[in-house]
Amino acid sequence: MNILIAYYSKTGATEKVAMALERFLRKSHRVTLFRIKPVQEMKAHEYKKREKDLPLLQPLINLKDFDLVFVGTPVWNFCPTPITVSYLRRLVSAKGKRFVLFATCTALPGTTIKRMSNILTTKGATVVDSITIRSIFELDASKLGIAERFAERVLKEL
Ligand SMILES: Cc1cc2nc3c(=O)[nH]c(=O)nc-3n(C[C@H](O)[C@H](O)[C@H](O)COP(=O)(O)O)c2cc1C
Repeated sequence: MNILIAYYSKTGATEKVAMALERFLRKSHRVTLFRIKPVQEMKAHEYKKREKDLPLLQPLINLKDFDLVFVGTPVWNFCPTPITVSYLRRLVSAKGKRFVLFATCTALPGTTIKRMSNILTTKGATVVDSITIRSIFELDASKLGIAERFAERVLKEL
């Protein structure tokens, strides 16, 4: 399969999970790792005001060549970050695609996965699985092992 792993990460935790997923998936599939970036870096609360149309830096939004798409986000205020939401809203050719969602947070993910799923299902996509990795400390090998086993499960259940 041709797999895309797109993620936003401000302080690196979600990026570590994305990289752990990539390390596992690339053993048997072609994987593109794509970091979503806003055009302008701001404080977290400032993004919220412009959530509907946040400009992103050269976003990889056309999914036509991908068979499976992972999208990862940090949790901000019990929700996906506005940057992640802007990315999901912009996606093209999502109809009929299979998605896997992942989130990182300290403790309380709130409605993060649900909100991401809603945007995607409205576009005609299917969310096949999701995971939230909680940690108040920097992600260690055991937490990254959870991500790896999750990727293994996703592949088995497809
Ligand atoms: C503005 C802001 C809001 C946050 N809100 C939550 C929250 O609602 N629930 C939670 O468990 N963690 C929350 N966190 C913690 C982050 O979700 C967590 O540190 C995450 O792993 C950071 O990912 P990153 O390192 O990829 O940016 C928040 C962090 C920030 C900066």
